[in-house]
Amino acid sequence: MGKGKLWKWEENAEMKNVFEPDLQEAVRGVQHPHKGQWHKEVFGNDHPITLELGCGKGEYTVELARQWPQRNFVGVDIKGHRFWRGAKTANQESLSNVAFLRTRIEFIDQFFAAGEVERIWLTFSDPQPKDEKGTKRITSGKFIERYRKFLAPEGTIRIKSDSKLLYALSKEDYIEAGYPFLHDSDDVYGGFLDEIDPDLRAALEIKTFYEQRWLEEGKNIHFMEIQPPSTPKG
Ligand SMILES: C[S@@+](CC[C@H](N)C(=O)[O-])C[C@H]1O[C@@H](n2cnc3c(N)ncnc32)[C@H](O)[C@@H]1O
Repeated sequence: MGKGKLWKWEENAEMKNVFEPDLQEAVRGVQHPHKGQWHKEVFGNDHPITLELGCGKGEYTVELARQWPQRNFVGVDIKGHRFWRGAKTANQESLSNVAFLRTRIEFIDQFFAAGEVERIWLTFSDPQPKDEKGTKRITSGKFIERYRKFLAPEGTIRIKSDSKLLYALSKEDYIEAGYPFLHDSDDVYGGFLDEIDPDLRAALEIKTFYEQRWLEEGKNIHFMEIQPPSTPKG
């Protein structure tokens, strides 16, 4: 265990905006007490909730929170020492509309109730090239089915990626499922930003460490926004 990780875990345990529930409970299918309670218990308001799944250091989550104070944001990742950075920054800047949740995205529907989440960002997710069935790629049709359980009616999912493979495989799944596309671009910085509303443009112009790296390598950045119907309650 790296020393660098240990003190970050210790600091995470002290931060009010960090939630690190017992993973074994999630494995056993226990529904988290915050499920259906995020507005009341965590944010203390009824502003719309956005998730960033696989948030890494939480750079996207924090910048979205800075730019949209009237919305709430939850960064989710299995690596707590990574999102320690985002949680710390949010605390230092007194951003009260940001939280971080440590869990596996496979269990995410145990944390959010039907209709509780208005938007999901999947930013630079691992492409998982060997995952033919889509059981690991968090943008796959299988994962979208999970997200539909708590996505609000009219809620959307935004996928931003440098990976041609992830883009192609995910798109194939969405077309097969018949999910409506609100946006689709295989080159975000090739004119697409000029065609979209300023709100989405501002959100897409946020660049994480990973994205900067891919851009320096000359990679195209892909983006899709889909609007899968939420699944009915029950
Ligand atoms: C390539 S990084 C991208 C980080 C960030 N979104 C960015 O753009 O900088 C992928 C992140 O997803 C997380 N991740 C991958 N699969 C996951 C899963 N099944 N559950 C939770 N986190 C996961 C990893 O721990 C990692 O931090």
